[in-house]
Amino acid sequence: MQMNFQYMLAPMEKLVDASFRTICHKYGADLTFTELVRFEGLAKGNNSAVKRIRLCDDTPTYIQFMGKIEDKLEKFLNKFEPSNGFLGFNFNLGCPSQNYTNQGVGCAMVKRPTKTARLVDIVKDFGYAVNVKMRLGMTKKEKEDKLFIKLIEKVNADFFVVHARYRSESYRKEPDWKALEECVNTSKSIIANGNIETKDHVTFMKEIGCDGVMIGRPVLINPLIFAELRGISTPLLDEVWKEYLELVNSREMNYSKRLLSIEKNDLKNLKG
Ligand SMILES: Cc1cc2nc3c(=O)[nH]c(=O)nc-3n(C[C@H](O)[C@H](O)[C@H](O)COP(=O)(O)O)c2cc1C
Repeated sequence: MQMNFQYMLAPMEKLVDASFRTICHKYGADLTFTELVRFEGLAKGNNSAVKRIRLCDDTPTYIQFMGKIEDKLEKFLNKFEPSNGFLGFNFNLGCPSQNYTNQGVGCAMVKRPTKTARLVDIVKDFGYAVNVKMRLGMTKKEKEDKLFIKLIEKVNADFFVVHARYRSESYRKEPDWKALEECVNTSKSIIANGNIETKDHVTFMKEIGCDGVMIGRPVLINPLIFAELRGISTPLLDEVWKEYLELVNSREMNYSKRLLSIEKNDLKNLKG
């Protein structure tokens, strides 16, 4: 897919709510994503799953889900009604949690390109845009075997957000940006993710041919980072947090307590 270089706000479970997405979009994020949810739960009408994918305004948003049972995906899509702001779906192939990987989903899906391709095609058949967010596999060995490249080649998604770490790598370890260059060489549309926070980082990602960057943890303490990276003038950060809280008070989904307690030193210890 041909597109302008995109700035994306990363999904972050129990931190990035609809209000935070609205604020980040207002101050420079082109695209946002809802947090992880199982489509099997959505198919069942599970309340907390349904709540997590609720969109509150026209902020451009992809709904993120994971899962493996084709019938359940079809069941959910049959009853799904897009609302304002909905752009399409994002498949999570990056979640490192053992709860999921033991069931063959999340990060464990990177080694299941045929299954993933089938699921992506189902979403396309319903007429929705679909993209993938992934890691480099479960283990160093999977990464070395280039399973992530096989997946990108086989799956017909609009773009691939690549968090350049394999599952067991902690956020303290540097992501492997060389692997991003290999992803770009597939000629698919690649969005870089993992420790991107300066203009130099963005310039590097542009130079190697990525179509955009996705930013997660740095946004939690500075929702103006997208505007700063784009060179757009910004209001004071305090004003923006105030604006966020005003919005939160008018909405149901509210992670502000946890979000506002995060400090710079905490970022390396967050898990997700
Ligand atoms: C607390 C937390 C929750 C996360 N939840 C999700 C999630 O629901 N879905 C997802 O795809 N990634 C999730 N992630 C991963 C981020 O989207 C992103 O890939 C990761 O933080 C690396 O980007 P960064 O270095 O810019 O933070 C989470 C990360 C953290 C720290």
